[in-house]
Amino acid sequence: MNLLIMGLPGAGKGTQAAKIVEHFNVAHISTGDMFRAAIANQTEMGVLAKSYIDKGELVPDQVTNGIVKERLSQDDIKQTGFLLDGYPRTIEQANALDQTLAELDLALDGVINIEVDPNSLLERLSGRIIHRQTGETFHKVFNPPADYKEEDYYQREDDKPETVKRRLDVNIAQGQPIIEHYRSKGLVHDIQGNQDINDVFSAIEKVLTNLK
Ligand code: AP5
Ligand code: MG
Repeated sequence: MNLLIMGLPGAGKGTQAAKIVEHFNVAHISTGDMFRAAIANQTEMGVLAKSYIDKGELVPDQVTNGIVKERLSQDDIKQTGFLLDGYPRTIEQANALDQTLAELDLALDGVINIEVDPNSLLERLSGRIIHRQTGETFHKVFNPPADYKEEDYYQREDDKPETVKRRLDVNIAQGQPIIEHYRSKGLVHDIQGNQDINDVFSAIEKVLTNLK
């Protein structure tokens, strides 16, 4: 299956992607995770990406389109399928993705659109914690780890309230035309994201089981 997962910052894309990958064995391609890995490795692309991410702005399309195309071109994708998380985020990226998929002889099977009340997102992002060793995402209140020790977890740099506000503004402005782009192709499955994490996954699982 070749899938996209879309939704505002904090909607639960990464949380649900981890479950989808475990159940359906598709390759998880998160542009945010790729940028954060490049930042940690202090590559040239990482340094550039950081200058945008720290402000809550989008990394330029040319850079983002390039890394996605490179990943989709790798051999495993044709066997496993993929789940793109956080891409495309502009109409230019959606057009570039259409072109890349056509060149690689791949087609999208579905778009999971997690709908959430934007007012709930600041609380989700300010409470998000990530396990240093496994990279697994939790929430201090909504999804607390079993044996929480503060030193084992970190918070994302761009989860500071000022940056979150800018991320939400940018993504609200850019997101709607992209959903419409895929809705016109009949690919979009809307999922109610303001419910328990496991209930969100049950709804997604139902959709994907029907797609298979
Ligand atoms: P990216 O890493 O993609 O961030 P984002 O889109 O802002 O989304 P998040 O990862 O913050 O949220 P999520 O939806 O994955 O939520 P999560 O599951 O973690 O991108 C970061 C930056 O990189 C961008 O700002 C941009 O600068 C750059 N970038 C990335 N892609 C780009 C692109 N295509 N083009 C240009 N630039 C790009 O959940 C959040 C919290 O909520 C967690 O604590 C979780 O435990 C909790 N939670 C999840 N679900 C629920 C639930 N149902 N109920 C209660 N709590 C929940
Ligand atoms: Mg994420």
